[in-house]
Amino acid sequence: MTNAELALSVDTSDEWIRQRTGILERRIAGENETTADLGTRAAEAALRHAGVSAGTIDLVIVATATPNETFPATATRIQASLGMTRGAAFDVQAVCTGFVYGLAIADNFIKVGQAENVLVIGAETFSRILDWEDRGTCVLFGDGAGAVVLQGSESRGGPEERGILSTHIHSDGRHHDALYVDGGPSSTGTVGHLRMEGREVFRHAVVRMSEAIDQALEHNHLTPGDIDWLVPHQANMRIIEAMGRRLHLPAERVVCTVDRHANTSAASIPLALWEAVGDGRIKEGDMVMLEGMGGGFTWGSALVRW
Ligand code: ACO
Repeated sequence: MTNAELALSVDTSDEWIRQRTGILERRIAGENETTADLGTRAAEAALRHAGVSAGTIDLVIVATATPNETFPATATRIQASLGMTRGAAFDVQAVCTGFVYGLAIADNFIKVGQAENVLVIGAETFSRILDWEDRGTCVLFGDGAGAVVLQGSESRGGPEERGILSTHIHSDGRHHDALYVDGGPSSTGTVGHLRMEGREVFRHAVVRMSEAIDQALEHNHLTPGDIDWLVPHQANMRIIEAMGRRLHLPAERVVCTVDRHANTSAASIPLALWEAVGDGRIKEGDMVMLEGMGGGFTWGSALVRW
């Protein structure tokens, strides 16, 4: 759906959306397509790419704020669609930080030896919770899914070690009213619509994501110069550019898909990763910084040597 198509039904313009957000278009799931459908396709692609069969996966984590149903977890639907009959599957709810939260959980499961092969999926159908009459929010989001496979391996302790080097996750629930959905099973008994104070979110996003980046660098005794790629949550071009400047990275080292995908919440980081790995930009051994922030507020970073 292009900005021009949106402008046919809501009082907005391609120019306004482009200038304020960098978004040119977004993807909208088909009428009968669910979060589990999108997540399953992303999972299949990730398994293929990793050369791993679904039968060897012992944990499926789905980061989503738009599950198929209130319960069971969308992860269990995807598990079944993949033909898996073993392992565990659950959803993680941290909105746009969901994928970083999922990575943190998967990394820790692997580190303590409770899982060896983990599928982490970010999948969303935000189009279903948008108020399509609210121009302040409906222009910003889209649908999509992305996934990664994490595998445990013996650590040799060297600086060249591949995989997740660190994760840092945070939340501060006092900011509920800045970004939330005004419905739910226990409050209204309805699904509800997304509500947001755009300026407030923008201000916090820049500060919090910068903190998460600094924390990852400090923890790993690295400087911005050590980072090859920034793969940020794709909310807004201006926020993404601010994060790139924070790491002194030229624009071509910051992976950006917000122009074509808009904000796909928990799916945005793995979707951006898929593009940059798929087209050969991110190569084995590259140092990749992932960061995100979302409703709650939640925020965090993951540092990965690809
Ligand atoms: N088209 C045209 N005009 C609009 C639109 C629109 N789609 N939306 C709002 N406006 C108008 C407003 O009504 C207002 O008009 P007024 O001055 O006559 O009252 C004017 O534009 C300015 O509105 P603001 O909301 O102050 O615009 P701002 O410059 O803050 O930009 C935006 C809004 C793009 C939402 C910005 O605040 C933002 O990007 N915030 C971050 C939000 C975000 O990314 N959220 C994603 C979820 S959280 C996360 O992922 C990090």
